[in-house]
Amino acid sequence: MTNARLDELNEYPFQRLRDLLDGVEGGGPMLNFALGEPQIGVPALLGETLAKHVAGFGKYPAANSTPDLRRAIADWLDRRYGLDGDDAMNADTEIMPLNGTREGLYNIAQLVVPQVRAATRPLVLVPNPFYQCYLGAATMAGAEVGLMPATAGTGFLPDLDALDAEMLRRAALMYVCTPANPQGAMADEAYLAKAIDLARRHDIVLALDECYAEIYDETPPPGGLQVAARTGERFRNLVVFHSLSKRSSSPGLRSGFMAGDPDLVARYGKLRGYGGAPLPDPIAAASAALWRDEKHVEEVRAHYRHLFDIADETLGNKQGYFRPPGGFFLWLDVGDGEAFAKRLWQHSGVRCLPGGYLARDEADGTNPGARFLRVALVHDAGTVRQALTAISELME
Ligand SMILES: Cc1ncc(COP(=O)(O)O)c(C=O)c1O
Repeated sequence: MTNARLDELNEYPFQRLRDLLDGVEGGGPMLNFALGEPQIGVPALLGETLAKHVAGFGKYPAANSTPDLRRAIADWLDRRYGLDGDDAMNADTEIMPLNGTREGLYNIAQLVVPQVRAATRPLVLVPNPFYQCYLGAATMAGAEVGLMPATAGTGFLPDLDALDAEMLRRAALMYVCTPANPQGAMADEAYLAKAIDLARRHDIVLALDECYAEIYDETPPPGGLQVAARTGERFRNLVVFHSLSKRSSSPGLRSGFMAGDPDLVARYGKLRGYGGAPLPDPIAAASAALWRDEKHVEEVRAHYRHLFDIADETLGNKQGYFRPPGGFFLWLDVGDGEAFAKRLWQHSGVRCLPGGYLARDEADGTNPGARFLRVALVHDAGTVRQALTAISELME
């Protein structure tokens, strides 16, 4: 017995990478630049706060976590996006703490995709390439995936003007990621305003994945909430997703949140009551402390800037290189990502993800990630320099 929808899904990209490289001899000890898992260590504040609240593990946590965590998140959003007075976040109705953003990005599809839309199978709009969770969420919710190519030609974000009337009629949910994984592109306020307006006009839920919002080079990326707060309809049809995985280098903490449309937040709370695994109270306390602290985040940003400076030095003269405005990935045009990943592994033991594994073929058979290699800059400076030097030796 199985749910046939699961069989529609590809192997996860990391399994495909293992299938590509296992059995092929690496040219040195393995350096993993495939996984976007920060390696710089967790902030001291995390352990200190957890230790103080350890007795909280003796209690069942509430579905929407603690009032203190929701308050810390609301205050952070207010500060980060300049929401004050009437615009300030409501900590009880507009915020839902989550076990990382992936939980919410997946479940939002289960929550909003109807059985039938426009008398046919509903569509979930997904940037191409994309974070794999969007595909799993859409498929398991019974939707068809509507690909929105995000290529160099579209500024690495989906071209919202290219969505045809049929797609918009059928769409129940649209994912947009900014700063984008894998390309690091950043949506500006005009782009966000257009996406919000489009979603509302066509009664689509807009899920903005902002989990890299705090990892930026020069300018903080604007957020969906700050744009929506000015529209007169506040957060209708909009939810944004944030995480401590990247901001606080704590992917194992499993702590993030969604915020936005109070109707969606309330319905999410109901879903969680049945099948959710709410954040344990000590984790909520540690998360609140991290959202209240900016010092460690400035250090994190400085670290990534330094790594991108190393990328400029080692790859700056290569045609397929650009320095992204956000996130911690390089998205290198190497001609054939899969062949390059294999050569790189054989040459140096560096493992990177072929871009094609993060994308699906478009209707015309092209894969918008196929030419690219994704390099996760998550290690210390010395290791990054070593890996990028190896990459530069193979790049034209
Ligand atoms: C674009 C994007 N969204 C969401 C996530 C999930 O992050 P988490 O569940 O750790 O918050 C990731 C993790 O790599 C990601 O790259």
